[in-house]
Amino acid sequence: SDLSHIRNFSIIAHIDHGKSTLADRMLELTHTVDERKMREQVLDAMDLERERGITIKTHPVTMKYKAQDGHTYRFNLMDTPGHVDFSYEVSRSLAACEGVILVVDAAQGVEAQTVSNAFLAAGENLVIIPVLNKIDLPSALTEESAAQLEDLLAIEAEECIRVSAKTGGGVGEVMERIVRDIPPPEGSAEEQAPFSALVFDSKYDPYQGAVVYVRIFNGRVRRGDRIRAMSTGRDYEVKGVGLFSPDPRPTDALSAGDVGYLTANIKDASEISIGDTVTRTNRPVEKPLPGFQEIHPMVFAGVYPMDTADYEKLGASLEKLRLNDSAFSYQNESSAALGLGYRCGFLGLLHMEVTIERLRREFDLDIITTYPGVVYRVHLTDGRTLEIDNPVLWPETTQIASVDEPMIKVYIICLNDHIGDMMQLVMERRGTVTHTDTIDAKRLMLTCRLPLNEVLIDFYDKLKSVSRGYSSMDYEYLGYEEADLVKMDILVHGEPVDAFATIVHREKAPAQGRRICQALKDVIPRQAFSVPLQAAINGNIVARETIRQYRKDVTAKCYGGDITRKRKLLEKQKAGKKKMKQIGQVSIPQEAFIRVLKTE
Ligand code: GTP
Repeated sequence: SDLSHIRNFSIIAHIDHGKSTLADRMLELTHTVDERKMREQVLDAMDLERERGITIKTHPVTMKYKAQDGHTYRFNLMDTPGHVDFSYEVSRSLAACEGVILVVDAAQGVEAQTVSNAFLAAGENLVIIPVLNKIDLPSALTEESAAQLEDLLAIEAEECIRVSAKTGGGVGEVMERIVRDIPPPEGSAEEQAPFSALVFDSKYDPYQGAVVYVRIFNGRVRRGDRIRAMSTGRDYEVKGVGLFSPDPRPTDALSAGDVGYLTANIKDASEISIGDTVTRTNRPVEKPLPGFQEIHPMVFAGVYPMDTADYEKLGASLEKLRLNDSAFSYQNESSAALGLGYRCGFLGLLHMEVTIERLRREFDLDIITTYPGVVYRVHLTDGRTLEIDNPVLWPETTQIASVDEPMIKVYIICLNDHIGDMMQLVMERRGTVTHTDTIDAKRLMLTCRLPLNEVLIDFYDKLKSVSRGYSSMDYEYLGYEEADLVKMDILVHGEPVDAFATIVHREKAPAQGRRICQALKDVIPRQAFSVPLQAAINGNIVARETIRQYRKDVTAKCYGGDITRKRKLLEKQKAGKKKMKQIGQVSIPQEAFIRVLKTE
């Protein structure tokens, strides 16, 4: 069959510049979604995405568009996330496309992710259709934004389409430009052609097993065919194929150029890997498709069930979640304070938060996490080098010759007025500004070098508050560099709580230790005895707080009073206890484990 009427593209943009809203307008214009079912940001199907107003996963959708040339085209669109932590989702969807729509909010202008996403697309040799969005806003600086695209990214100003995804103005022109500028897919859709499909995502379904998201590059596949996953060599029988509209809709076959899904009764999540090539057992291709650059988690934390009986369930849930999110890793670990759990690796802190939240919601699990950290390279005096992602495994000081930590290159776009505060923030985090570029009369771009560890916890929040929201950042990985790092223990009533241990820069240890102890003091309830909270390096106390003992029974003040009120109080206390972890003689509420993460 004919591939000339297929167009595969992604929408890429900085966060909040209007990707999902533009996708909504396209779905309406093509009548892909029933008018009664249409709601805002219809592709952001996850509750979490709707609540936070962000896209987390890539959402593929197939539309039929009747163009001005009289032909009907099949558009396969991928709505992609904007946040740095999810840029791997963007690069994966780009591998399934021939072009991108680069959306820029005309009231904001070019931002950090506009730049990094445009570089990603250009690196894949994709056609870029530039769109200036939100031109309905009185604050829109459409021509200035066009000039920034020309200066920074060499995109010609007259190529930019002026759009309001809110009113729908200009969206028709975007549709026509997709037909005109984005090339149709190559390859042969013939039945006899060797079959190859790229796995770009997958999702676990309790009835069908893995739902594998594929872009077909050559040949054709239908129900009953035998297929082979090239990385494992395992064969499966296809149980179903279909398109996304945007819900999965079964079809007869998928052929070259199509973006859709297939199911093959794949029950074990580990059997299917993102970036793998699927071929036909009796009509195989010789070589797998290029696939993706492997992604490595950068941020590690222990993840434990609140209730130790949920350990197995947590493991099974992590496995299923990994099917839908190949970017995180996990392996068994145990903690004296928290019991059996898993060491999980994430791409960043938002990724970690989102993953934990998904475990809570989609798998109904109560979770505790430890302080997140990065992977350190510890050089020992005996010549060996260890990679350590867990403070508990930190060697004795006497065994350590030196320690290296991961560094990142950070791009920050901010107003000229805020440059002083920004530089200060970067310095406080042990960073240096290596470059400044002018963007326009009001804004500039700082290029900085920072330890990843210092950016993890709340750098982004600080950046936003320093600049009152008028800034953006993106980062890339640079490599390892030596630093004076030590392990800091937190002792509760004299006992080190392994879940609170962190690796810190020696000079920052006292301040950090004080913050953690103060945060714990606020959340750990008073006990029948005084509880010292201490931060220690190598047994030397660097910070201390004390929780004084309580005097009164909580029900004392209701003495002789209303009995139902008394009962309520007792019940409340009991419910509170359930959510406590017993560490030595002290009960620590679940909240404490979360609070130590937010200590500024
Ligand atoms: P992420 O998915 O979080 O990366 O964001 P996004 O780029 O998909 O942005 P989204 O479509 O969620 O839009 C962000 C906000 O801008 C929403 O409140 C939209 O209603 C609003 N918005 C989008 N397009 C327009 C537009 O053309 N005009 C105006 N005035 N507002 C718009």
